[in-house]
Amino acid sequence: MIRVEVALPGERSYPVVIGAGALAEAGQHAGERPFCVSELTVFEAHAGLLPPLFATQVVPSGEAAKEWETLEATLSSMAFERLDRRSVVLLFGGGAVLDVGGLAASLYMRGIRAVSCPTTLLAMVDASVGGKTAINIAGGKNLVGTFHQPVAVLADTRTLATLPDSEWRSGLGEVVKTALVDGDELLARVERDARALAQRELGSIDELIAACVRAKARVVAADPHESGPRKALNLGHTFAHALEKVAGFGAIPHGVAVACGLTLALAASERAGLLEDRTLTARVDALLRSLGLPRSLGELRMQHGALPPRELLEAMKLDKKARDAQPKFVLPRRAGALQLDVELDSTLLLELLA
Ligand SMILES: NC(=O)c1ccc[n+]([C@@H]2O[C@H](COP(=O)([O-])OP(=O)(O)OC[C@H]3O[C@@H](n4cnc5c(N)ncnc54)[C@H](O)[C@@H]3O)[C@@H](O)[C@H]2O)c1
Repeated sequence: MIRVEVALPGERSYPVVIGAGALAEAGQHAGERPFCVSELTVFEAHAGLLPPLFATQVVPSGEAAKEWETLEATLSSMAFERLDRRSVVLLFGGGAVLDVGGLAASLYMRGIRAVSCPTTLLAMVDASVGGKTAINIAGGKNLVGTFHQPVAVLADTRTLATLPDSEWRSGLGEVVKTALVDGDELLARVERDARALAQRELGSIDELIAACVRAKARVVAADPHESGPRKALNLGHTFAHALEKVAGFGAIPHGVAVACGLTLALAASERAGLLEDRTLTARVDALLRSLGLPRSLGELRMQHGALPPRELLEAMKLDKKARDAQPKFVLPRRAGALQLDVELDSTLLLELLA
């Protein structure tokens, strides 16, 4: 088992436990009457790994969970079960369950404790750490949410055994993003392991998850509420969120959209004259190809239809990072060095999105 500490200045820190058996620690964090938020696929396959539960709220699978209705139903269920300020919520699922369940935990009685128990690769390397919670609204992805740090993260890799290949690949998209944000060492490591990762044949995934969590924890500790350096973690995401919105939430797995967002961010960086390491574009292209991830909008369009450039542009104007309808981008200079808050003019954006 690997333990990583997320140390937050001025707030409590919390452990991230990674490995087969991590959920054995759930009991010690869960209190006497743990309330679980999960989804059917995950709960049916893996509920046996959890401690005895007081009550469970089953939400829709995947992105469909991140809706007002689910949030409301979860809050009502919390009240019905008479949860109080001592109660603990176990969030058991992928990033979608963590996002909506975490939001419910942060709102109920102005905030009760949550333990994140991620069950997808994406949620283990990214969504479970950092305390962002969210639902989607018609206006855009993750437009409604809070910051609510979990009291612990238990990434039990036994749950990954049932994860479909498509969702595994999606997780690898966030792994590549994390590596690009963190720097050359992690990127080289992902490149070295790419073939085994794509085939799901890496002896153990624990060390790579831990490396990604350490990378994210460093950024989150420096800027818990995303007023500065944490924005780096949004690399590729302004593009990705627009793609997800225009395709219809849930149609493109998040990490797949992020992978495409990374190539668009690299292209934008090159066009804006910001890209210092000219080898990076070819490196990322080769890496995404060996991981089975899309490397261009063209590839994504073959599966998901037109994704019209003007609709994508309009979606970006409503992104959370936009100011006065002017989207802001995180663009790579080189691995580990990013330019934050870049504005790109609409003509350039439409060319990139063509
Ligand atoms: N809060 C954050 O910091 C943060 C960071 C990154 C992503 N996110 C959000 O996370 C969401 C994506 O999360 P995700 O990629 O985990 O996808 P997800 O939660 O949508 O789950 C994807 C699919 O995998 C299935 N699944 C989950 N665990 C499984 C398992 N162990 N076995 C079999 N099937 C399983 C689900 O039923 C679902 O169909 C997006 O909404 C994204 O915005 C949040």
